[in-house]
Amino acid sequence: MIVNRDRNIEIAPSILSADFSCLGDQIQAVERGGAAVLHVDVMDGHFVPNITVGLPVVKSLSGFTRLPIDAHLMISEPDRYATQFVSAGAKMVSVHVEADPHLHRTLTSIKAAGAQAGVVLNPSTPVTAVEEALQFADYVLVMSVNPGFGGQKFIPQSIDKVKRLRRMIEERQLNVRIEIDGGIDLTNIETVVAAGAEIIVAGSAIFGTPDAETAVKELRNATVQWV
Ligand code: DX5
Ligand code: ZN
Repeated sequence: MIVNRDRNIEIAPSILSADFSCLGDQIQAVERGGAAVLHVDVMDGHFVPNITVGLPVVKSLSGFTRLPIDAHLMISEPDRYATQFVSAGAKMVSVHVEADPHLHRTLTSIKAAGAQAGVVLNPSTPVTAVEEALQFADYVLVMSVNPGFGGQKFIPQSIDKVKRLRRMIEERQLNVRIEIDGGIDLTNIETVVAAGAEIIVAGSAIFGTPDAETAVKELRNATVQWV
């Protein structure tokens, strides 16, 4: 277990589970709750079996919220679009290792455009798949469900995967953060933070409740011993 490190645990609400008819209100609620990042899931119906939102939504939200936007690109050929999301206002942009044979180019171009660059691992993709790319990334996103939908069940093997990734990062003395996404709620947030995750995405555990502000506060309180 990793404790006593100087860590900054951040809650990143995923708007995928929000009520899009009043998205602005929902975002203001998570801002009041103390969210640190706004996670926006971009899906193309090709890399994943679902279609969500894209550049125009990131652009209008970046002019609305004070939270940095974390664009999670679940799209084929992400290298074609990644820097466009930076231009649209995203401060963090992540691409899936399974979708991108040119990770070095994509990650360095995201950084050159002025955002943090992330690389994402599907549940069945080994941590070794990011070994070479690690030094070019600002964060690694570990998927703890198969990407495509909110409200799925957390895959418990993700905990050990986060630990192994944390070890790999520390052995190389890199300044790379770990984000985790999928099925996170009050029952498992402490475990994933103890394993080494620092940016915690939650969709249905926040927007699936009647009070998104309180839901963020409760998730934050559950991690307070590490902050
Ligand atoms: C799934 C998305 C997630 C999703 C998480 O493909 O990447 O960000 O919104 O939702 P929950 O927290 O409900 O699993
Ligand atoms: Zn996501």
